[in-house]
Amino acid sequence: MTIDPNTLIARARECLAEAYAPYSRFRVAAAIVDDQGRVFTGVNVENISYGLSMCAERVAVFTAIAAGSRRISAVAVTSSGADLLSPCGACRQVLAEFAGPDVPVYCDAPDSPRRWTVAELLPAGFQAAQLGGKR
Ligand code: THU
Repeated sequence: MTIDPNTLIARARECLAEAYAPYSRFRVAAAIVDDQGRVFTGVNVENISYGLSMCAERVAVFTAIAAGSRRISAVAVTSSGADLLSPCGACRQVLAEFAGPDVPVYCDAPDSPRRWTVAELLPAGFQAAQLGGKR
């Protein structure tokens, strides 16, 4: 399923205002499209117990999974910050669970979006095959 990157980024931007980020004041929003063309969005949700906060990318992925999606075809992220946003390490691992290595991740930036692939963001990530073998 292909989608115009600007369309997907626009979907992320649309929900940026819904981010709940009273502590960092750094809003993040993500939009993902699945292999059936369904778009799911997420925003960061912070908590007074800071470590319980959740990133926008994972909210978007988990929302997609809860709706029955299993394969992600593209990802877009945006933020209230002035600079390029690139997903945190935990979100990269979660994206890699449901997105192949060549799946594009479009990261919003002041000029034009930066495009990375999942493999570029998570080289040598933990993979299911590593669970097998010697113990
Ligand atoms: N954040 C995300 O939502 N996604 C990322 O990839 C990086 C960080 C959020 C977490 C926290 O609510 C705020 O940005 C500042 O770290």
